[in-house]
Amino acid sequence: TAAAVLALSVSASAVMAAGACDEGEIVIKFSHVTNTDKHPKGIAATLLEKRVNEEMNGKVCLEVFPNSTLYNDNQVLEAMLQGDVQLAAPSLSKFEQFTKKFRIFDLPFMFKNIDAVDEFQNSETGQAMKESMTRRGLLGLAFWHNGMKQMSANKPLENPSDANGLKFRVQNSDVLKAQMAALGGSPQPMAFSEVYGALQTGVVDGQENTWSNIYGKKFFEVQDGVTETNHGIIDYLLVTSTDFWDSLPDDVRDQLATIIDEVTAARNSESTKVNEEAKQAIIAAGGTVRQLSPEQRDAWVATMKPVWEQFKGDVGEDNIAAAQAINA
Ligand code: LMR
Repeated sequence: TAAAVLALSVSASAVMAAGACDEGEIVIKFSHVTNTDKHPKGIAATLLEKRVNEEMNGKVCLEVFPNSTLYNDNQVLEAMLQGDVQLAAPSLSKFEQFTKKFRIFDLPFMFKNIDAVDEFQNSETGQAMKESMTRRGLLGLAFWHNGMKQMSANKPLENPSDANGLKFRVQNSDVLKAQMAALGGSPQPMAFSEVYGALQTGVVDGQENTWSNIYGKKFFEVQDGVTETNHGIIDYLLVTSTDFWDSLPDDVRDQLATIIDEVTAARNSESTKVNEEAKQAIIAAGGTVRQLSPEQRDAWVATMKPVWEQFKGDVGEDNIAAAQAINA
């Protein structure tokens, strides 16, 4: 029918438009590593792309490259400093080489939920963290939420001793390595894009991640089950290079910053819901989700929390106290 033909040609032109920037537009490449659907970061990045391209058409052209198609997190910050990419949103664990301040976000059982993380990030200390790497050429524009981390393995994880002797994939972070060592596990840092294959082939036995990542990359399909530990968090810094940001005309920078703030507010308030939906999708797809009894959870806390001791110098005892006050 004519309507179908019209719908087809509209969607074809939309596809073409996505790949083509007009001459004279400032091009912003945004590289990230997750899927786009049922994922807090994927959804936020797509919304940012849509709004910028609609509202700043003729001035700015934003192109999102999800699923590690352009860079993985180990490469993207270097690429940004080279000017090859202008936006990224790596997890806070990935800034290890640039700042030790973000280590507070990796410490197990530091924040009771994402609302507590949000409150900490919005404090003066949290806001200052966005600018803590400007001397290294990186500027944080916003914190973006993902959610609470869960543990999975190729055997049931109920008590912390179940993790003994297992190899766990971790993001490349000293805190996360120490956390897995505290469990008697062996931490194996690797890029997010390699985790599914490593779990499938038995290169590693287990991993930790949010529901949306475990669902989006199908980790649950190659694990015995996922235990709802809520033992830590994954959150992101939407980051650019100071060179790029400073190069923008004032009006462009202001408009971009406003859109980023609005997208951040709109999507951060939905992140917990998005993860809950991903958890339900795992169950619906036949994945096993295990709950801990209060006693079991206490045992995980007792095993992992001593890791704080090793990092309190990097993180600052006053910041730990501030985070704990928010939890209370
Ligand atoms: C991971 O490496 O597991 C996560 O940081 C991926 C992501 O961006 O959520």
